[in-house]
Amino acid sequence: MNTTLSSFEAYAQQYKNSVDNPEEFWNTVASDFVWRKKWDKVLEWDFNKPEVKWFVGGKLNITENCIDRHLAQRADQTAIIWEPNDPKDEAKHITYRVLHEQVCKVGNMLKANGVKKGDRVCIYMPMIPELAYAVLACARIGAVHSVVFAGFSSGSLVDRIQDAGCSVVLTSDGSYRGDKKIDLKHIVDEAVEKCPTIKKTIVFEKLKISVNMKPGRDLWWHDEIAKVSADCPVEEMDAEDMLFILYTSGSTGKPKGMVHTCGGYMVYINYTFKTAFQYKDGQVYWCTADLGWITGHSYILYGPLSAGGTTVIFEGIPSWPDMGRFWQAIERHKVNIFYTAPTAIRSLEKAPLSFVEKYDLSSLKVLGTVGEPINEEAWHWYNKNIGKENCPIIDTWWQTETGGFMISPIANVTKLKPAHATLPLPGVQPAVMDENGKELSENGVEGRLTVKFPWPSMARTIYGDHQRFRDTYFSTFPGKYFTGDGCKRDEEGYYRITGRVDDIIIVSGHNMGTAEVESAIDEHHDVCETAVVGYPHDIKGQGIYAFVITYNKPENEEKLRAEIRDTVSKIIGPIAKPDKIQFVSGLPKTRSGKIMRRILRKVAEGDTTNLGDITTLLDPAVVEEIKAGAL
Ligand code: WTA
Repeated sequence: MNTTLSSFEAYAQQYKNSVDNPEEFWNTVASDFVWRKKWDKVLEWDFNKPEVKWFVGGKLNITENCIDRHLAQRADQTAIIWEPNDPKDEAKHITYRVLHEQVCKVGNMLKANGVKKGDRVCIYMPMIPELAYAVLACARIGAVHSVVFAGFSSGSLVDRIQDAGCSVVLTSDGSYRGDKKIDLKHIVDEAVEKCPTIKKTIVFEKLKISVNMKPGRDLWWHDEIAKVSADCPVEEMDAEDMLFILYTSGSTGKPKGMVHTCGGYMVYINYTFKTAFQYKDGQVYWCTADLGWITGHSYILYGPLSAGGTTVIFEGIPSWPDMGRFWQAIERHKVNIFYTAPTAIRSLEKAPLSFVEKYDLSSLKVLGTVGEPINEEAWHWYNKNIGKENCPIIDTWWQTETGGFMISPIANVTKLKPAHATLPLPGVQPAVMDENGKELSENGVEGRLTVKFPWPSMARTIYGDHQRFRDTYFSTFPGKYFTGDGCKRDEEGYYRITGRVDDIIIVSGHNMGTAEVESAIDEHHDVCETAVVGYPHDIKGQGIYAFVITYNKPENEEKLRAEIRDTVSKIIGPIAKPDKIQFVSGLPKTRSGKIMRRILRKVAEGDTTNLGDITTLLDPAVVEEIKAGAL
């Protein structure tokens, strides 16, 4: 399939084909890959069960498509540019040849330590090349990777390891975060003590700090890798075999292990990467996400590498040593496509423009954003100061569950509208629903965003809990996949995502279930009950506002706030720390005991003029107290 689209008409035609004859369309797209055995059938689906299978009967290995098939033409081309935390250190250029060799070695290291096809491997590592090798090595030998963002606490790590029943953890002694050092191995030690399924921990020596190595369980990466060869044939996988599990927060309960499979995921991620960015051979592409999130999986590794591209892996943070770090790295590596999050743009926008002006950004051709709605102001700043009004901004709407981009402009093809994800990509059939479950088929509407036809990279289930998968995504609007997002579709058919309509808040682009944060706060021994809501935050997009009832009136509110933040940090991770904590004597509950979050949201937003009907509350007086104490 030629993914170069020369005009809007070409897109419109491709879109039409993909809707009129989806199987034929994806059949053509999938023909561009190396398959060990061709599929018997393109698609089988039933959104009621729900069950979705793509490329049924096909056999492949995604790393053969991401690495081996490029060796004939591109062995000496850079596959990965690794930009270290400290700009004074040297960047690494990893060619496809070296990538192949390293992935094979790590694959053999895993096998030598008992990992077999289908086993789950937890990867808890900083943004170093070995993280990429580890992910790809799992895929190569048919093990299922479960990458856990290395900013999560040991408690979160325990939940994820246990849920997936992982047998091995790959980690490092520590990691850098700007000028700080983080003792990762220690966090893993705490976690693994509680995880009986873990047989081995393999530790990459990054910081060379002293760590505790438990005999019989903990092994050094460099010792293990020295023992194995670089010859590791790919494991032949069924198109519907599991490729990875990746956890995302739910609006209730524990995080959900979203399951992605080999064939459809590969086809879709490659197709959307090339299409949305109009990626051209030889371009340098940089996505600033962490590999611990879906954006990193799909659009740092699998998308660019399957396209034979050059992808940047950045170990550092945007604000260290100074606020020019991103722009410096763009100049250094002559980055052509730069893909980041609105929250990063908003924080960098606050710094003096001299941090941008110091660097030559003329290599940039295309910009992108992901993770949350981008506000118009940030969009214009990005367009003017980074893109110099010369680079389209590809505002990609998608989710961990969707695997890849769903609604997104196509670079230099789609007319842009600030803050709009614009139009569905070929193969994607969105539907806007009203609250009563009726599809709003005309333009100029606002409602809930669903998708009515399967696409190849959609998650197939929640690991170990298919019922929850069905309840969460396929029961609100029967026969349709419900995204949990609200949206507007304007007169031109352009989509604007308005945000979550469930109890998930998006803080600096990271999904956070309010229930998860509440239960972490409740762990503090002084806390009796908590309700958490999101509120608009200048930089983070949404901040976390907690209303907390304590057993006794706090003697020192500031001290208790600090302790509560610390508790949350230990249980989930620093990203979940509440920004505001208001102590209250009661929460607005209905007579049936349900917290009216609508009221709390209004208070958190600072808008208490119109709280709507509060007469159904058990104790309306509590609202006055909450209003008076708002932060
Ligand atoms: C939000 C990240 C508006 C949305 C890839 C979605 C966005 C959730 C955008 C998924 C965007 C993501 N515009 N909102 N361009 N991209 N979102 O699973 O609410 O970490 O449901 O996947 O982020 O977040 P997740």
